Amino acid sequence: MARAGSSDCSTIETSQDVPGRTLEVPQGPAFIVNRMGQAEWARELARTILEEPLPRRWAHSQGVAAKAESLVPILGEEADLLIAAAWLHDIGYAPDLVDTGFHPLDGARYLRDVVEADGRLCRLVAHHTCAVNEARNRDLFDALTSEFGQERPELVEALTYCDMTTGPDGVPLDVTERLAEIHSRYGPEHLVSRSITASTPYILSAVRTVQAALEQSQTA
Ligand SMILES: [Fe+2]
Repeated sequence: MARAGSSDCSTIETSQDVPGRTLEVPQGPAFIVNRMGQAEWARELARTILEEPLPRRWAHSQGVAAKAESLVPILGEEADLLIAAAWLHDIGYAPDLVDTGFHPLDGARYLRDVVEADGRLCRLVAHHTCAVNEARNRDLFDALTSEFGQERPELVEALTYCDMTTGPDGVPLDVTERLAEIHSRYGPEHLVSRSITASTPYILSAVRTVQAALEQSQTA
């Protein structure tokens, strides 16, 4: 899959693992992941975290995961990782996980520190949908980028495609409808709206790139 063009959020070069917060650690999932595959494990973890307190986010996550499953033809073996990230990308919204209030960072830290999840999965969640722009607006850019490096740009684009073509209730949406929905939900002055505006060129480019790759795979 070709990379998106100049509007690229994926410019962080290195990953640096730093000591995390001290949190209550539940049963580690590593042995389950090995037996079940990461996507199945991620679905159950996301269900546990989101279904009851945030049913709308849970519905959205199910829609995003369905989109990720549709990318198997272009992602091959990495589809399992992408689907797992799709399930878990918004867990940072869950009340029990909120710390900084910036959901990509809170979700990724939970995955890293509490669940001891795969580093690639943590990085995808940390940087999903051009999170660096919102991190800048929240004065969390240094925290985000020093703790979590970028993942392979094609996978970052793929997760952006899945998130930005799925509405808040899990229904598939055109990317322009999705962008409009975010602006209307938050209002023009909100930090999230301003961050999405900054990210829009990258988002549109990522969606176009993934759609082109999908179309190509269907005609091949
Ligand atoms: Fe999302």
